[in-house]
Amino acid sequence: MLQTIISRLLASTKGILAADESSKTIQKRFDKIGLQSTPETNLAYRKMLFTTPGVEEFLSGVILYDETIRQEIDGVPVPQYLEKRGILPGIKVDQGIVDEITTGLDGLSERLTEYRNLGAKFAKWRAVIVANQEDAFIEKNAENLAKYASLCQEQDIVPIVEPEVLMDGDHDLQKCQEVTAKTLKTVFAKLVGQGVVLEGVILKPNMVISGKDAPNKASPKEIAEATVKTFLEVVPTQVPGIVFLSGGQTPDEATENLAAINKIGGPWQLSFSYGRALQDEALKAWAGKEENVEAAQKAFFDRCKKVSLARQGKL
Ligand code: 13P
Repeated sequence: MLQTIISRLLASTKGILAADESSKTIQKRFDKIGLQSTPETNLAYRKMLFTTPGVEEFLSGVILYDETIRQEIDGVPVPQYLEKRGILPGIKVDQGIVDEITTGLDGLSERLTEYRNLGAKFAKWRAVIVANQEDAFIEKNAENLAKYASLCQEQDIVPIVEPEVLMDGDHDLQKCQEVTAKTLKTVFAKLVGQGVVLEGVILKPNMVISGKDAPNKASPKEIAEATVKTFLEVVPTQVPGIVFLSGGQTPDEATENLAAINKIGGPWQLSFSYGRALQDEALKAWAGKEENVEAAQKAFFDRCKKVSLARQGKL
């Protein structure tokens, strides 16, 4: 069961849309278009994305937020609507960060059962690491990721394991490389320690990339080489797939960097699970107005198509 879901999520021409922004984060996104987030506006926005004609050609899965998995599109529950389109529904299960540690393990087993009954086939848990993170925090976050992954596998839900080293700061590529390598090493040690089946997880990491405010930004080729080299050192080959987050890269950067990574390739599928890089242009075009839905869907379709090509190393 886990393997069937994983093969579908990692289909060679497709990737994942992260549309699991929490209530707080979606308001941050809506601030850019001057819109108040409510369950209704959140659904209107996500409905615009999910009903885009033809997008199932590029999307294997969508990560949903707790609110969205309980909503409906034209009378059909969102997870079933997506499944009918051939897109697998997933669910964000972490519950925010307290003192630098991602929380959400309390009652997680029960919540996973509920989400599975609602139709979720995979889950996501995000830990956040800053460039100068103290080791103890990396350890604790990795431990929680491993406990989460183990609980998911018990219930036949594919865990997406997301340790994100943030782009925030002026650090260089080398610094990102060091922190990413240390983080991933710790995460895999904890996963193995927790008895997680590595063939049954998908890793969602940052690319090895310069900090947002770095004076000298690495090129896509340099990013791709550093990313693949680092991952060859620390990501076991049993892991079937790596789906990158976009992490604040522009849509074009996230597309070019993924293409450069796939031109090199590796022993795993190298795909995407982008939030902002897939949505930014569509959100701007939509601007909260019904009359813009068609233009927004066109922007979304075009970006998904480009990223799908990048995922195949074709751009
Ligand atoms: P971004 O691609 O915007 O970083 O979002 C991906 C995600 O799911 C972060 O948790």
